Amino acid sequence: MDKFVIRGGTPLNGTIRVSGAKNSALPCMAAAILTEEPVILENIPQVRDIETERKLLASMGAEVELGYGRAQHRTTLCCRNLAKSEASYELVKTMRASTLVLGPLVARTGSARVSMPGGCAIGARPIDMHLKGLELLGAKITVEHGYVEATADRLRGAEIVFDKITVTGTEDLMMAAVLAEGLTVMENCAREPEVVDLANLLTKMGAKITGAGTSTLRIQGVEQLHGAKHRIIPDRIEAGTFIVAGAVAGGNLIVEDCEPAHLGALLRKLREAGVEVSAAGDTVEISSGGQLKAADMSTEEYPGFPTDMQAQYMALATQAEGASVITENIFENRFMHVSELVRMGADIKIEGRRAIVRGKTPLSGAPVLASDLRASASLVIAALVADGETIIDRVYHMDRGYENIEEKLRGVGAQIRRVGDLIPKR
Ligand code: EPU
Repeated sequence: MDKFVIRGGTPLNGTIRVSGAKNSALPCMAAAILTEEPVILENIPQVRDIETERKLLASMGAEVELGYGRAQHRTTLCCRNLAKSEASYELVKTMRASTLVLGPLVARTGSARVSMPGGCAIGARPIDMHLKGLELLGAKITVEHGYVEATADRLRGAEIVFDKITVTGTEDLMMAAVLAEGLTVMENCAREPEVVDLANLLTKMGAKITGAGTSTLRIQGVEQLHGAKHRIIPDRIEAGTFIVAGAVAGGNLIVEDCEPAHLGALLRKLREAGVEVSAAGDTVEISSGGQLKAADMSTEEYPGFPTDMQAQYMALATQAEGASVITENIFENRFMHVSELVRMGADIKIEGRRAIVRGKTPLSGAPVLASDLRASASLVIAALVADGETIIDRVYHMDRGYENIEEKLRGVGAQIRRVGDLIPKR
């Protein structure tokens, strides 16, 4: 298993580029199921989860073509012949977002068999709202032997009100409704930029959708969709991770190829914490040399502060003067990074959904364990300011969602390297 070895104490200076959004690329790839024609996606990040989704689609009979050289971030998907409407346990257990194929498969082929995802490191994460919505659209759902089976001759439009805001739930049902007969109105939808990106792709494919980016989506079903070409939006969480890293490590960092409009809540919070940030065009510039000060933060659905930035923000809070109260409202178990940050010297107490971080505490390098994707990012940020060397184990979590992070960070001065197994496997 690969590890990162990071020597802290060097500021980040220069320009760092943001890749395409993993959480937008995943539903957009699933949308290719909805048509017989090729869907060409550009700015696809080269990360493990995307590799898993390519495998998943190929296992169903999709033709998957990857770009080379300068076009290496392009993927063309053609689902002319779908031999198998199934997402196996082997794939779903490695990536929960595999459940995004459920809606498009039922809509296009009339049946889907998808393994139920289990709980994961950050919470129970049920998919009950995906299933309830599909039932309202006329699908017959059974759950047996760990698999969901959904069948329908043709889905029909319905009124769906989400009990709770769900990102992939909104995306899954939007993909089901675009081929349903008649009008679907969905209330209390997720407003994340990734939902809007998917709606934009579907619209290019011939879908009739209004309201993307608001809590009410209206979808007039069509008989069939056609191929399209689409560029995936920049990854706002990768951008945010670099911005926080720059704020904590010090120096003058320019984060390029991002969409500052998607980073509003984070940039406002960082200013409150004393970071100098300015946004222009597709760049954000961070300079931090002054003192960071404590600022309370609560995660919320978009446009609130993203849960996917909570762990990274906590690393920053350890370096701010005073007590910051960090409240996690989206997932019930997303504080796995706390014990590792404490091992590096942080002063953090957990009280239910709240973490109280008292700073500023000096951090010292230590061997630590990454427990999930964003927890890994938090440990990398902490390691950048820690005294001495930090060894982060299980960086495969990081590889699921960050493209070449060590090369990108090295390019702006970080002392980070990847090492393989120190003891060879037998
Ligand atoms: N929920 C239910 N029932 C459902 C669906 C969700 O109770 O049917 C609950 C969840 O358990 C959670 C809350 O609703 O407490 C919100 O979950 P949501 O469905 O919005 O999460 P998701 O769609 O599974 C996506 C991202 C996550 C991100 C969350 C929240 C993708 C592929 N994943 O997950 O990204 O944290 O939205 O913004 O888009 C990550 O990239 O590290 C990551 C975990």
